[in-house]
Amino acid sequence: MQEPAPQKIIIDTDPGIDDAMAIHQAFADPRLEVVGLTTIFGNVTATRATRNALHLAEMVGHPACVAGGAPVPLRRAPEPPADFVHGPEGFGNLPAPTPGRAADPRSAATYLCESCAAAPGEIIICAVGPLTNLAAALEHDPAITRNARRVVVMGGSAAHHGNVTDCAEANIWNDPDAADSVFAADWDVTMVGLDVTEKTRCGPQDFAVIAKQAPVIGGFLSAATEFYFDFHEAKLGERICFMHDPSAILAITDPHLFGFEAMPISVICDGAEIGRTIAGGVGRRDVSVAMQVDSDAARARFMEVVATADDRAAARHRESNLKTTVIGGWNAGRNR
Ligand code: BDR
Ligand code: CA
Repeated sequence: MQEPAPQKIIIDTDPGIDDAMAIHQAFADPRLEVVGLTTIFGNVTATRATRNALHLAEMVGHPACVAGGAPVPLRRAPEPPADFVHGPEGFGNLPAPTPGRAADPRSAATYLCESCAAAPGEIIICAVGPLTNLAAALEHDPAITRNARRVVVMGGSAAHHGNVTDCAEANIWNDPDAADSVFAADWDVTMVGLDVTEKTRCGPQDFAVIAKQAPVIGGFLSAATEFYFDFHEAKLGERICFMHDPSAILAITDPHLFGFEAMPISVICDGAEIGRTIAGGVGRRDVSVAMQVDSDAARARFMEVVATADDRAAARHRESNLKTTVIGGWNAGRNR
Protein backbone atom coordinates (compact mmCIF):
# COMPACT_ATOMS: atom_id res chain seq x y z
CA MET A 1 0.00 0.00 0.00
CA GLN A 2 1.23 3.50 -0.80
CA GLU A 3 2.35 5.62 2.18
CA PRO A 4 0.15 8.70 2.75
CA ALA A 5 1.80 12.00 1.76
CA PRO A 6 3.70 13.62 4.63
CA GLN A 7 1.80 16.23 6.62
CA LYS A 8 3.12 19.76 6.07
CA ILE A 9 4.08 21.58 9.24
CA ILE A 10 5.52 24.92 10.34
CA ILE A 11 6.97 24.85 13.86
CA ASP A 12 6.78 28.11 15.81
CA THR A 13 9.53 27.73 18.38
CA ASP A 14 11.87 29.23 21.01
CA PRO A 15 14.76 26.73 20.87
CA GLY A 16 15.32 25.69 23.71
CA ILE A 17 16.34 22.12 24.65
CA ASP A 18 12.97 20.39 24.31
CA ASP A 19 12.30 22.51 21.20
CA ALA A 20 15.51 21.06 19.73
CA MET A 21 14.25 17.55 20.57
CA ALA A 22 10.90 18.28 18.88
CA ILE A 23 12.48 19.85 15.79
CA HIS A 24 14.94 17.00 15.24
CA GLN A 25 12.08 14.54 15.82
CA ALA A 26 10.02 16.35 13.15
CA PHE A 27 12.98 16.51 10.72
CA ALA A 28 13.57 12.78 11.17
CA ASP A 29 9.95 11.67 10.83
CA PRO A 30 9.05 10.78 7.21
CA ARG A 31 5.38 11.36 8.05
CA LEU A 32 6.10 15.10 8.31
CA GLU A 33 7.33 17.67 5.82
CA VAL A 34 8.77 20.56 7.82
CA VAL A 35 8.10 23.57 5.61
CA GLY A 36 9.51 26.16 7.97
CA LEU A 37 10.49 27.21 11.46
CA THR A 38 9.29 30.52 12.87
CA THR A 39 10.94 31.81 15.99
CA ILE A 40 9.84 33.57 19.13
CA PHE A 41 11.26 34.90 22.40
CA GLY A 42 10.80 32.66 25.45
CA ASN A 43 13.45 30.16 26.41
CA VAL A 44 15.98 32.50 24.73
CA THR A 45 15.75 35.93 23.08
CA ALA A 46 14.14 36.03 19.63
CA THR A 47 17.55 36.70 18.02
CA ARG A 48 19.03 33.60 19.66
CA ALA A 49 15.93 31.59 18.81
CA THR A 50 16.42 32.42 15.11
CA ARG A 51 20.12 31.59 15.24
CA ASN A 52 19.39 28.30 17.02
CA ALA A 53 16.63 27.35 14.57
CA LEU A 54 18.97 27.98 11.63
CA HIS A 55 21.59 25.80 13.31
CA LEU A 56 19.16 22.93 13.92
CA ALA A 57 18.14 22.92 10.25
CA GLU A 58 21.74 23.18 9.09
CA MET A 59 22.81 20.24 11.30
CA VAL A 60 20.74 17.90 9.14
CA GLY A 61 20.98 19.77 5.83
CA HIS A 62 17.28 20.59 6.03
CA PRO A 63 16.03 23.28 3.61
CA ALA A 64 13.26 24.52 5.97
CA CYS A 65 12.73 28.25 5.77
CA VAL A 66 13.48 30.07 9.06
CA ALA A 67 11.64 33.33 9.76
CA GLY A 68 12.36 35.46 12.81
CA GLY A 69 9.48 36.43 15.05
CA ALA A 70 8.39 38.71 17.85
CA PRO A 71 11.00 39.76 20.41
CA VAL A 72 8.43 40.76 23.06
CA PRO A 73 4.83 39.97 24.04
CA LEU A 74 1.85 41.75 22.46
CA ARG A 75 0.98 44.12 25.26
CA ARG A 76 3.20 43.66 28.28
CA ALA A 77 6.84 43.85 29.28
CA PRO A 78 8.82 40.66 28.51
CA GLU A 79 10.01 38.29 31.21
CA PRO A 80 13.73 37.42 31.10
CA PRO A 81 14.64 34.33 29.01
CA ALA A 82 14.48 30.96 30.83
CA ASP A 83 18.27 30.45 30.78
CA PHE A 84 18.09 28.58 34.10
CA VAL A 85 16.11 25.86 32.27
CA HIS A 86 17.71 25.88 28.80
CA GLY A 87 21.20 27.37 29.35
CA PRO A 88 22.65 30.73 28.30
CA GLU A 89 22.49 30.06 24.56
CA GLY A 90 19.48 27.71 24.59
CA PHE A 91 21.21 24.35 24.24
CA GLY A 92 22.31 23.72 27.83
CA ASN A 93 26.02 24.20 28.31
CA LEU A 94 26.80 23.90 24.60
CA PRO A 95 28.40 26.99 23.05
CA ALA A 96 26.56 29.42 20.79
CA PRO A 97 26.23 27.99 17.27
CA THR A 98 27.19 30.02 14.21
CA PRO A 99 24.87 29.16 11.36
CA GLY A 100 26.07 29.69 7.82
CA ARG A 101 22.83 30.90 6.30
CA ALA A 102 20.52 33.83 7.05
CA ALA A 103 16.86 33.90 8.01
CA ASP A 104 14.06 34.72 5.58
CA PRO A 105 13.60 38.51 5.42
CA ARG A 106 9.88 38.21 6.26
CA SER A 107 8.59 38.37 9.82
CA ALA A 108 7.29 35.12 11.28
CA ALA A 109 3.71 36.44 11.16
CA THR A 110 3.96 37.41 7.48
CA TYR A 111 5.67 34.13 6.64
CA LEU A 112 2.96 32.11 8.42
CA CYS A 113 0.18 33.99 6.61
CA GLU A 114 1.81 33.80 3.18
CA SER A 115 2.75 30.13 3.48
CA CYS A 116 -0.74 29.07 4.59
CA ALA A 117 -2.38 31.23 1.87
CA ALA A 118 -0.14 29.62 -0.76
CA ALA A 119 -1.24 26.10 0.27
CA PRO A 120 -4.74 26.52 1.68
CA GLY A 121 -5.82 23.75 4.06
CA GLU A 122 -2.44 21.99 3.93
CA ILE A 123 -0.18 23.39 6.63
CA ILE A 124 -0.34 22.51 10.31
CA ILE A 125 1.07 25.23 12.58
CA CYS A 126 2.67 23.61 15.61
CA ALA A 127 3.42 26.27 18.23
CA VAL A 128 5.82 25.23 20.97
CA GLY A 129 6.65 28.67 22.33
CA PRO A 130 4.73 31.79 23.43
CA LEU A 131 1.88 32.50 21.00
CA THR A 132 2.75 36.08 19.99
CA ASN A 133 3.56 35.23 16.34
CA LEU A 134 0.26 33.41 15.90
CA ALA A 135 -1.68 36.33 17.39
CA ALA A 136 0.22 38.72 15.10
CA ALA A 137 -0.59 36.47 12.12
CA LEU A 138 -4.31 36.58 13.03
CA GLU A 139 -4.09 40.39 13.00
CA HIS A 140 -2.05 40.50 9.80
CA ASP A 141 -4.36 38.25 7.78
CA PRO A 142 -7.50 36.91 9.49
CA ALA A 143 -7.91 34.46 6.57
CA ILE A 144 -5.16 32.38 8.17
CA THR A 145 -7.93 30.75 10.25
CA ARG A 146 -9.22 29.23 6.99
CA ASN A 147 -5.88 28.80 5.25
CA ALA A 148 -4.07 26.89 8.02
CA ARG A 149 -5.05 23.23 8.21
CA ARG A 150 -5.00 23.27 12.02
CA VAL A 151 -3.02 24.58 14.97
CA VAL A 152 -1.37 22.44 17.63
CA VAL A 153 -0.21 24.30 20.72
CA MET A 154 2.15 23.03 23.40
CA GLY A 155 0.98 25.08 26.33
CA GLY A 156 -1.43 25.50 29.21
CA SER A 157 -3.05 22.92 31.40
CA ALA A 158 -6.64 21.85 31.83
CA ALA A 159 -5.98 20.48 35.30
CA HIS A 160 -5.24 23.98 36.57
CA HIS A 161 -1.61 23.62 37.42
CA GLY A 162 1.39 25.49 36.11
CA ASN A 163 5.16 25.30 35.85
CA VAL A 164 6.03 29.00 36.18
CA THR A 165 3.43 29.83 38.80
CA ASP A 166 1.00 27.46 40.53
CA CYS A 167 -1.46 27.90 37.68
CA ALA A 168 0.44 29.19 34.62
CA GLU A 169 2.42 27.17 32.07
CA ALA A 170 5.47 28.96 30.56
CA ASN A 171 4.32 29.43 26.95
CA ILE A 172 0.96 30.87 28.02
CA TRP A 173 2.43 32.88 30.88
CA ASN A 174 4.95 34.56 28.54
CA ASP A 175 2.13 36.12 26.51
CA PRO A 176 -1.34 35.45 27.92
CA ASP A 177 -3.04 38.03 25.65
CA ALA A 178 -1.66 36.34 22.55
CA ALA A 179 -2.64 32.89 23.82
CA ASP A 180 -6.17 34.05 24.55
CA SER A 181 -6.61 35.43 21.03
CA VAL A 182 -5.33 32.15 19.52
CA PHE A 183 -7.87 30.13 21.57
CA ALA A 184 -10.62 32.64 20.71
CA ALA A 185 -10.07 32.48 16.93
CA ASP A 186 -12.25 30.37 14.66
CA TRP A 187 -9.77 27.65 13.71
CA ASP A 188 -9.09 24.05 14.58
CA VAL A 189 -6.87 24.12 17.70
CA THR A 190 -5.41 21.24 19.70
CA MET A 191 -3.90 21.99 23.11
CA VAL A 192 -1.13 19.71 24.32
CA GLY A 193 -0.53 20.96 27.84
CA LEU A 194 1.11 19.92 31.08
CA ASP A 195 -1.73 17.41 31.59
CA VAL A 196 0.13 15.11 29.22
CA THR A 197 3.59 16.61 28.66
CA GLU A 198 4.63 16.11 32.30
CA LYS A 199 3.52 12.48 32.16
CA THR A 200 5.97 11.58 29.39
CA ARG A 201 9.48 11.58 30.80
CA CYS A 202 12.92 10.57 29.59
CA GLY A 203 16.05 9.89 31.60
CA PRO A 204 19.79 9.97 30.84
CA GLN A 205 19.67 6.27 29.89
CA ASP A 206 17.16 7.04 27.13
CA PHE A 207 19.38 9.77 25.67
CA ALA A 208 22.42 7.49 25.95
CA VAL A 209 20.56 5.02 23.72
CA ILE A 210 19.61 7.77 21.24
CA ALA A 211 23.23 9.01 21.19
CA LYS A 212 24.43 5.52 20.35
CA GLN A 213 21.90 5.04 17.56
CA ALA A 214 22.32 8.51 16.03
CA PRO A 215 25.73 9.78 17.22
CA VAL A 216 25.46 13.25 15.61
CA ILE A 217 21.89 14.34 16.39
CA GLY A 218 21.33 12.00 19.31
CA GLY A 219 24.74 12.98 20.67
CA PHE A 220 23.90 16.67 20.39
CA LEU A 221 20.52 16.20 22.13
CA SER A 222 22.08 14.04 24.79
CA ALA A 223 24.77 16.66 25.54
CA ALA A 224 22.27 19.56 25.59
CA THR A 225 19.83 17.65 27.79
CA GLU A 226 22.33 17.27 30.65
CA PHE A 227 21.45 20.87 31.64
CA TYR A 228 17.73 20.08 31.38
CA PHE A 229 18.21 17.07 33.65
CA ASP A 230 20.00 19.30 36.18
CA PHE A 231 17.02 21.66 36.21
CA HIS A 232 14.46 18.88 36.64
CA GLU A 233 16.57 17.11 39.24
CA ALA A 234 16.81 20.27 41.34
CA LYS A 235 13.04 20.66 41.08
CA LEU A 236 11.85 17.05 41.40
CA GLY A 237 14.74 15.19 43.04
CA GLU A 238 14.82 12.83 40.07
CA ARG A 239 17.16 12.92 37.07
CA ILE A 240 14.52 12.99 34.33
CA CYS A 241 13.02 15.57 32.00
CA PHE A 242 9.50 16.29 30.82
CA MET A 243 8.92 15.82 27.10
CA HIS A 244 6.91 19.02 26.53
CA ASP A 245 7.52 20.05 22.92
CA PRO A 246 8.08 16.53 21.50
CA SER A 247 4.57 15.69 22.80
CA ALA A 248 3.05 18.32 20.50
CA ILE A 249 4.74 16.69 17.50
CA LEU A 250 3.55 13.26 18.66
CA ALA A 251 -0.01 14.57 18.92
CA ILE A 252 0.23 15.19 15.15
CA THR A 253 2.06 12.05 14.05
CA ASP A 254 0.63 9.59 16.61
CA PRO A 255 -2.68 10.97 17.88
CA HIS A 256 -3.80 7.47 18.95
CA LEU A 257 -1.36 7.75 21.87
CA PHE A 258 -3.50 10.50 23.41
CA GLY A 259 -7.00 10.91 24.77
CA PHE A 260 -8.58 14.23 23.79
CA GLU A 261 -11.53 16.14 25.22
CA ALA A 262 -13.34 18.99 23.47
CA MET A 263 -13.88 22.23 25.39
CA PRO A 264 -13.51 25.95 24.73
CA ILE A 265 -10.39 27.44 26.34
CA SER A 266 -9.82 30.96 27.71
CA VAL A 267 -6.75 32.48 29.31
CA ILE A 268 -6.75 34.66 32.42
CA CYS A 269 -4.92 37.82 31.37
CA ASP A 270 -4.78 39.78 34.64
CA GLY A 271 -4.51 39.36 38.37
CA ALA A 272 -3.06 36.65 40.59
CA GLU A 273 -3.92 33.81 38.20
CA ILE A 274 -2.51 35.44 35.07
CA GLY A 275 -1.55 32.87 32.45
CA ARG A 276 -3.96 30.21 33.69
CA THR A 277 -5.93 28.35 30.98
CA ILE A 278 -9.52 27.63 31.92
CA ALA A 279 -12.25 25.57 30.28
CA GLY A 280 -14.97 27.87 29.02
CA GLY A 281 -15.51 30.97 26.92
CA VAL A 282 -18.87 32.14 25.61
CA GLY A 283 -19.24 31.67 21.84
CA ARG A 284 -15.78 30.09 21.49
CA ARG A 285 -15.15 27.09 19.32
CA ASP A 286 -14.11 23.90 21.12
CA VAL A 287 -10.41 23.18 21.46
CA SER A 288 -9.29 19.56 21.39
CA VAL A 289 -7.42 19.20 24.69
CA ALA A 290 -5.01 16.29 25.27
CA MET A 291 -5.96 14.85 28.67
CA GLN A 292 -4.45 11.36 28.63
CA VAL A 293 -1.33 9.86 27.13
CA ASP A 294 0.18 6.42 26.85
CA SER A 295 3.47 7.77 28.14
CA ASP A 296 5.56 4.61 27.70
CA ALA A 297 4.48 4.37 24.06
CA ALA A 298 5.06 8.12 23.56
CA ARG A 299 8.60 7.90 24.93
CA ALA A 300 9.31 4.83 22.82
CA ARG A 301 7.97 6.52 19.68
CA PHE A 302 10.08 9.63 20.26
CA MET A 303 13.20 7.52 20.73
CA GLU A 304 12.44 5.37 17.71
CA VAL A 305 12.07 8.41 15.44
CA VAL A 306 15.12 10.32 16.73
CA ALA A 307 17.23 7.15 16.41
CA THR A 308 16.86 7.54 12.62
CA ALA A 309 17.90 11.23 12.58
CA ASP A 310 21.48 10.69 11.32
CA ASP A 311 20.38 8.29 8.58
CA ARG A 312 17.67 10.69 7.44
CA ALA A 313 20.18 13.55 7.38
CA ALA A 314 22.63 11.46 5.33
CA ALA A 315 19.85 10.56 2.86
CA ARG A 316 18.90 14.24 2.56
CA HIS A 317 22.52 15.19 1.84
CA ARG A 318 22.77 12.45 -0.78
CA GLU A 319 19.53 13.59 -2.41
CA SER A 320 20.58 17.23 -2.53
CA ASN A 321 23.99 16.30 -3.99
CA LEU A 322 22.22 14.24 -6.60
CA LYS A 323 19.88 17.11 -7.44
CA THR A 324 22.82 19.52 -7.72
CA THR A 325 24.66 17.12 -10.01
CA VAL A 326 21.67 16.20 -12.17
CA ILE A 327 20.07 19.66 -12.42
CA GLY A 328 23.44 21.43 -12.65
CA GLY A 329 24.53 19.06 -15.42
CA TRP A 330 21.22 19.48 -17.22
CA ASN A 331 21.48 23.28 -17.08
CA ALA A 332 25.09 23.21 -18.22
CA GLY A 333 24.02 21.04 -21.18
CA ARG A 334 21.29 23.50 -22.12
CA ASN A 335 23.65 26.46 -22.07
CA ARG A 336 26.11 24.93 -24.41
C1 BDR B 1 7.28 24.94 27.55
O1 BDR B 1 8.07 26.04 28.00
C2 BDR B 1 9.38 25.97 27.48
O2 BDR B 1 10.32 26.10 28.49
C3 BDR B 1 9.49 24.63 26.80
O3 BDR B 1 10.30 24.73 25.65
C4 BDR B 1 8.08 24.27 26.45
O4 BDR B 1 7.71 24.79 25.20
C5 BDR B 1 6.94 24.04 28.70
O5 BDR B 1 6.20 24.72 29.67
CA1 CA C 1 9.40 25.61 23.62
